[in-house]
Amino acid sequence: MEFIVNSKIKVFANTDEISEFLGNFWIAKINELKEGEHYTIALSGGNTPIKIFKYLSEHFNNSIEWNKVTFFWGDERCVPPNDSDSNYKLAVDNLFSKINFRDKNIFRIKGEADPQQEVIAYSKVLEDNLEKLNGAPKFDFILLGLGEDGHTASIFPNEIELFNSTNNCEVATHPISGQKRISITGKIINNAETVSIVGVGNNKAKVVSEILNKSELSKNYPVSLVNPESGNLIWLLDEVSAKMI
Ligand code: 6PG
Repeated sequence: MEFIVNSKIKVFANTDEISEFLGNFWIAKINELKEGEHYTIALSGGNTPIKIFKYLSEHFNNSIEWNKVTFFWGDERCVPPNDSDSNYKLAVDNLFSKINFRDKNIFRIKGEADPQQEVIAYSKVLEDNLEKLNGAPKFDFILLGLGEDGHTASIFPNEIELFNSTNNCEVATHPISGQKRISITGKIINNAETVSIVGVGNNKAKVVSEILNKSELSKNYPVSLVNPESGNLIWLLDEVSAKMI
């Protein structure tokens, strides 16, 4: 059962209820599509989406018209698509391999490519396959995660300037592992119709509270810059991650 803090902050008992909300949200949006239109979704990576993808594949396989959805990514690690670190592999293993879906509706970030070249290539993929709003590619829905350090997509606090890049995508570097990542920027994130930030687990309670209570510290968090012009930002939290707001 969800309790609504406000239209932008929804708190659920667990990840399954978050997944149920997402599935029903997408069904409603897909039902509004005109003939031949697609609902464009940018996925996030990390561990939280695993449970979401599994739940959707088990409970929404036949209720979401998956072939009316086109999937992209908000970020990708610069690793091959069969690498255990790949956000693409995570989605294939936990969702795409389990639903009635045609691969042609997938535009993955090529983690195996040279990062500087893939940033250009994926920026063009977004330009060529998304509608435009304000002269920039517009996603219908962007699923974002939230790091304990306040990162989102692959924009980390020590590279927060990447969020305000004039490019669609940038090469980012994980501050601890040094792993190169490809990430969409705020130019794309804040141009989307709907953005959801999913925060689950006790380890996210502090960062969630800092951001939603607008602490001084949170001003340095990239996730604090997520503010879609559409006004449609939805925080999807579980009870433990929301316990300090
Ligand atoms: C990634 C994600 C990243 C993730 C957060 C939270 O590629 O890792 O896009 O932004 O959403 O790090 O990750 P968890 O869900 O594992 O906490």
